Parts: sequence; structure tokens; C-alpha cells
Amino acid sequence: MTPATTTAVTTGTTTATTAGLAPRAVGTPHVRREGRDKVTGTARYAADFPADGLAHGWIVVSTVARGRIRSVDDIAALKMPGVLAVLHHDNAPRLKEDFAGTFGPDATTQVLQHDRVPYAGWPVACVVAETPEQAREAAETLVVTYDTAPHDADFRPGHPDAYTPEAAGMGPARTDKGDVEAELAASDVVVDARYTTAEEHHNPMEPHAAMARWDAGRLEVVDTTQGAYATAQDLARLFGLDPASVHLRSEHVGGGFGCKAQVRPHLILAVMATTLLERPVRIALTRAQTFTLIGHRSPTAQRVRLGAGTDGRLRALEHTSLSATSTVRDFVEPSATYARSMYDANGHRTVHSVVRLDVPTPTYMRAPGEAPGSFAMECALDELAERCGLDPIVLRTRNEPAAGPVSGLPFAGRRLLDCFAEGARRFGWSERDPRPGVRRDGRWLVGTGTAASTFFTGAFPATAAVTACADGTFTVRITAADIGTGARTALAQLAADALEVPEDRVHVLIGDSDFGNAWLAGGSMGTRSWGWAVMLAARELRERLALGADIPADGITVRSDTEQAVRALAAYERHAYGAQFAEVAVDPGSGEIRVRRMLGIFAAGRIVNPLTARSQLTGGMIWGLSMALHEEAVRDTASGSLVNADLAGYHIAAHADVPAIEVDWLDDADPDDPVGLKGIGEIGTVGSAAAVANAVWHATGVRHRDLPIRPDRVL
Ligand code: MOS
Repeated sequence: MTPATTTAVTTGTTTATTAGLAPRAVGTPHVRREGRDKVTGTARYAADFPADGLAHGWIVVSTVARGRIRSVDDIAALKMPGVLAVLHHDNAPRLKEDFAGTFGPDATTQVLQHDRVPYAGWPVACVVAETPEQAREAAETLVVTYDTAPHDADFRPGHPDAYTPEAAGMGPARTDKGDVEAELAASDVVVDARYTTAEEHHNPMEPHAAMARWDAGRLEVVDTTQGAYATAQDLARLFGLDPASVHLRSEHVGGGFGCKAQVRPHLILAVMATTLLERPVRIALTRAQTFTLIGHRSPTAQRVRLGAGTDGRLRALEHTSLSATSTVRDFVEPSATYARSMYDANGHRTVHSVVRLDVPTPTYMRAPGEAPGSFAMECALDELAERCGLDPIVLRTRNEPAAGPVSGLPFAGRRLLDCFAEGARRFGWSERDPRPGVRRDGRWLVGTGTAASTFFTGAFPATAAVTACADGTFTVRITAADIGTGARTALAQLAADALEVPEDRVHVLIGDSDFGNAWLAGGSMGTRSWGWAVMLAARELRERLALGADIPADGITVRSDTEQAVRALAAYERHAYGAQFAEVAVDPGSGEIRVRRMLGIFAAGRIVNPLTARSQLTGGMIWGLSMALHEEAVRDTASGSLVNADLAGYHIAAHADVPAIEVDWLDDADPDDPVGLKGIGEIGTVGSAAAVANAVWHATGVRHRDLPIRPDRVL
């Protein structure tokens, strides 16, 4: 991949110098601070922390999809070498039954609290032993018997038990404006298309693990989490502990993507076991266990109806989406929210429905809602462009709304068309022959496609402390999480600029719940929420130092809290935007699809660290490519289990699948943020699958509305 020429587009965010003071760190590339530790194996992840007398837990999960546990026969297991305990629903410590955490009530936390089995893969016991191998061997001899009941693990469009809930994600489940049916009837061109997306799994490189121990009346925990403070608070609530007695650290996190934002069974069971045994206990999940214990993205069945004049201007827009949840907790994949901010029409309707099945509970997964929703909507728009005889970018240009289509709020900046213009120029879009199926390269049919991207931007309250040390260095403390994004580095850059000192004089400590309240690394709001708090504290510290304060031996510390500042943000449609382009080659003989190149141009706020930002946006686009062509968890409806719960069967894009991906951005500073930040965690994934699918249509002349576009579907 050739480095893109960022400076050409991001003038103003690069190496500007503030009034002769320290060079600005924000906007210049910095290698991630923990990079060397990570590649040399020095960086410690949750399963790497040693402890004297450490015991190891192994989770046993149900093999049936619905029913009751009749018995757990642990007699043989307890006699095996090294086995210390077998926890199950009859002997496990009790949890708060009405637990509500950071993300609301969550009955998935009620592990070993009852004999009900809600799905295949639900934890039914935990064996603790001196070594992980002993625990695993004993777990395999444990005999759990069940009274089974008929189950339904079959997600299908039009499921008779589907219903429309109150809410989907952060908004209502349903929005209505005008008369969709009348507008459709009055339209010259109508697209009515159904799309499906597959069940997807996060698969962070580091599977979940936790170690817990009691130390002088404090619960000391190491977990892999996107938010150490929230997880510590939730853990305290779940066990009925004083929040001050829970200390949770998360030094390095090998990927999160939404599955490490909540208290998960490995952590709960580790705390139960250490409480019972009075020894430190570690539990690490296998890759296969992560397919049932940590959440996933539900499959979706979506329908988009668009009505337009021959000029392509939308009169009617309807987007409906069905997703699945478990019988334990409702989680709605909010796919139909995408058009609420993106496209307007006189008749405008978005509806979510959900069906409770005997399957594990889904959760947030990178760009929840927007990822599958943008696939359906951006493909439907491509179909409309084709039917109207319009270029897809021209169609979108004609449908730029003046205000939020559903909210009516003004946009706090919307550079979507600028992204398309810059992207089209760089991609060579003007040379495209709009006819499908006409470009050949040997045995390959070649096509190009485009799609829009958007993701909500916002900020959550956080606290930070910045200390001026007597040796002339500074230390930032904040409960941020670095899930691979380079958070430490970005926060050092932000603090350095606020302090007006070189970035290498700033130390950054994160991932420790004792540093106080801070938002999670999630919702594309981590860096912005933390950065805001760091900036406030650092600025105030600089002002104090400028007044000539002497620095005592223990330094001068300034604390900030952005609660008020964040709450005072005026109501706008606040989003980041992007334009995605893809070129694919399709072999009509084998059905193989090769993505040849992708380009993403984003307007996503000021970019703190171009090096890590490019990597994050590229990673998001690879997610989209992978969603379009590879990822599919296949459920055997007879057993209720997945048939491919491992990385051998669940395909993700590998290096050989990833072509030249070019990423760049436009100046897009958010005027309401002290540094102009928006957020980049999720937007790279939004629209990228649609761009690939639209390119496959352009190559072949055949619309593929079901993801992934496997070779057998192409043939
Ligand atoms: Mo992300 S799905 O907000 O962790």
C-alpha cells in the first residue's frame, strides 16, 4: 500500500506552529507508544498477569438449545488431579438478580444463577483447578444432564414471532413521516428490494480473559475491556459490592469492536471462584467459546422501498429491518436508523422488528446498525441510479438533505459531497463505463462501485488528571482503553499541545478504574471523550505553570470533568461522513471475487494521529470487505449451535484478500469540540460492503442482495 498524500488534503491539520511555541503534535504522525512492547511480547494482556497461587477456571457450556439442567454430576471431576472446585447453579455465589449496568438491565450476567438453559453455549458450570489443562480435562468429564424443550434457532425473514419493540439502539424502533404508500404510488421509478446479512462475530485477536483476586478487602481484577471504569462499576453492582472496593485494570487490549464493552461470563466466574477459593483465579476463553459467550452481530433481513421521479429525487423511502435476539435479553440491531440522517423523502419510514430465538444474545459490533443498514440502503440507491439512468454519485448529489430528514435538526457540518468529489477524482470515476458486465480482463469481469458512509459523532463525560512532575515531565491519568487504536499516543499528542510541550515529555497512564469515570472505547467516541477531559486539565495546568508556580516533589495535579461541557452540546445532526469506492474482478467460471482496490475519503473531524487513524479507517474498510465476501456464522437449526465456531470455518479476510486500500480525509474540524475531533472508530466499516456489492453488480450485471457474496452465489 502506498502512503496516501495526506498533506495535500489536510492542510491546516498538519504541522502548524502555534505562535512560536512547541510544535503541534496533533495532526502529525506518531508511532504508537506500545508498539515495540506489543511486537516483542513484552506487552501484558489480561491472561498474562502472574499471581502467586494462581488457579485456573474452565467454563462448561450447554450442549442443548433449550431446557433445564437436571443435574451436574461432579463426583468424578472433583477427584481428578488438581481440581479445586466445580461451580454450578446449586453452589455458585448469588448475584444481583435485577442487575442493570452501563448498558441497562442485562440478564446475560446471571450465570450459574438458575437451571434454565436459553441456548446452546450458555455457561452451566465452571471447573477450577491448579492448571488450565487440569481444569479443562475435568470439565470434559463433567456430566451435565438436561430436560430439553423444543427450540427455535431458525432466523428467517417474515418470522411469525417478530415484533416491533420500543427502541432500537439509541433511538426509537420506528419513525414515520408523510405518506409512504401515496408517494410510492406517485413515483416514476420504484425500487423494492430485499437484502440479508449474515450473523457475524467480532473475533478480536485477543480472546476474553480475566484474573481476579481479593487483596486486603479489595477486589483486584485484570480484564480485557473497552472501559475499565464501566466494567468495574458494573461488576460492583452485579456482586453488590462497594464500588470503591473494586479495582480493575486493562493494560493492553487486543481488539474490542463492541464485544468487550460489558461484564462477560469469564469475568463473573473468575470473581465467583476467587471469592470461594480465596486464591487468585484466571479464566481465559477459547476462540470457540467466544462464539457464544461474548455477543455477536445478529443476521438481518431488510427491505428497502424507494420511490423517485425520473430525475432520481426521492419521494418515498422505507427501510425495514428484522434482526434476532435471545430469550435472555433484547438487543436490536438498529439497521434501519441509517437513512434517518442520510436521505430525505416526503414519505419516510424506518421500522425495526426483532424475534426472540433460542440463540445467544447479540450485542454491539463495530458500526452496530450502520454496517448492515448501509449495505441495504446504499445498494438500493445504486439500483435506483441504474433504473433512473443516473450516475450513482449524481443520484446522491440530488438527494442531499438540507436538515436531518427525521430530526429536522441542522447538520453540524456535512461534507459528504466533498468526499464523493475527492474520491471520484482520485479513483478515476469519470472514466467508468456505466454499463454493467462490459469490462473484461482475461477471464475476469471487472467493475467498480461506490457508496456513502456516515456515523454518529458525540462525546460522553470523562475525568482526567494531568500532573506536572518536578523533573519537567507530565503524567496524564485517565481510564481510557487502548483497544489497538493507539489511544495512549493520541492522548499524549493532545496533552502535549495543550501544555505546549514536546509530546515526548508527556507520559500517559490508562486502563485503570481508579483513575475515575471515563467513557468506553466505543461508539466512535473514545478519543474524543477522553481527549476533551485531557485538554481541559492540561490547559488549566499550563495556565497555573505560566503564573510561575513552583513544582513540589509530588508535582502539581489538575483534574478535569467534562460532564457540564458535554451536556451543554447544542442539538445538531452530528455525523462523520465518507465516500467509499471499490473495484472488483469476478471470475464467472469459479465464482471467485477479487477486490482489486478500495478507496475511502472521509470527513470525520480533525485527525489526531494520521498514522494510526489511517490504520483504523483501513481496518474498518477491511471489515466491510470481509462482511461483503467472507463472514458468515452458520447455525445448525436442529442443534441450535454454530457449525463454524472457529477461525477455520468462520472466514475473515486474510492478507491475500486485502488489496491496495487507500484512505484519506478532508478538513472537517468540529467547531464544538475543543480540538475539532469527531470520531473514526466505526465509519470505515459503513458503506464498504455496499461499495463492493455494487462493484460486483457493475462487473457482472447481477445484483447480489445476500451477504456474503460467496462463490456459489455468484455462479
Ligand atoms: Mo463499538 S460496536 O461502539 O465498541
